[in-house]
Amino acid sequence: MKSTVYITRKLPDNVVDKLSCHFNVRMWKEESIQVPREVLLKEIEDVEGLLCLLTDIIDKEVLDLACNLKVISNLAVGYNNIDLDSAVCRGIVVTNTPGVLTETTADLTFALLMATARRLVESSDFLRKGEWGAWSPMQLTGQDINNATIGIIGLGRIGEALVKRAKGFDMEVLYFNRKRKTELERELGIQYAELKDLLKRSDYVCLLLPYSNEVHHLIGKEELKQMKKEAILINTARGGLVDEDALYHALVEGQIWAAGMDVFEKEPVSVDHPLLTLPNVVTLPHIGSASINTRIAMANLAADNIVNVLNGAEPLTPVMLK
Ligand code: GLV
Repeated sequence: MKSTVYITRKLPDNVVDKLSCHFNVRMWKEESIQVPREVLLKEIEDVEGLLCLLTDIIDKEVLDLACNLKVISNLAVGYNNIDLDSAVCRGIVVTNTPGVLTETTADLTFALLMATARRLVESSDFLRKGEWGAWSPMQLTGQDINNATIGIIGLGRIGEALVKRAKGFDMEVLYFNRKRKTELERELGIQYAELKDLLKRSDYVCLLLPYSNEVHHLIGKEELKQMKKEAILINTARGGLVDEDALYHALVEGQIWAAGMDVFEKEPVSVDHPLLTLPNVVTLPHIGSASINTRIAMANLAADNIVNVLNGAEPLTPVMLK
């Protein structure tokens, strides 16, 4: 008998077709509305495979109802939306989509850094609002990117890809990572720094580490205080890494210069979020990996992981328990 797979959001037809060749496929067909929790709780009961998004919380409640589930394929590199321990102890394989999004996410991280440093959004709004009275020497001046110091917190694949971009702008690169990577330091010409030291020395602090409870609010009031007055914080990882209330106050009080945020603690972020009221914050709706090619590659990889596991082969990109 064919296995059944549930997909929690509308995916491109060719990806769905790939799964339909092997399995009975059911899908939440909306593109911009998340599958309601009660629908997910019902759909999960009989399926062998689940293809889900980073917005779907796959916790114990979901897993307790999943009698036949063999594989959870997350269409994202991050998997903090999944209770990994509970899945693994039930013998469920969890997969994610690393690799295919590395360069695209590094591109977006650097684009956000540049947009924030050179006030691109604010400058564009200024022009469109008709405020461009005359060219003026200090008007809309920002921070230099070239020859500045960038501190990367989390030197995984995307962090490494960001180093290449930073080096192209003659930046000095510091990094902080749970595990020091001495060989890479030599290879890429980068320096390890403890978190406190990195915060003190960096003009740009970029967060690129996976989120877990241990790093909740890694950047809070104290950490923001350690940063330079001209420093810019860039977060393209997960919102929970930053205490947004502390960030708001640090920006208002001029403790740091600006922030570029692609991710928020609660997504979608509400339009009256205090950070959205500040001109020195560039905000994006979690689009780190959002290029057409990359999103298609991620969807294909997520589908291939399900095909492999349900057909008795090894998953291509399993999530490993730490
Ligand atoms: C996006 O945030 C991802 O984890 O892939």
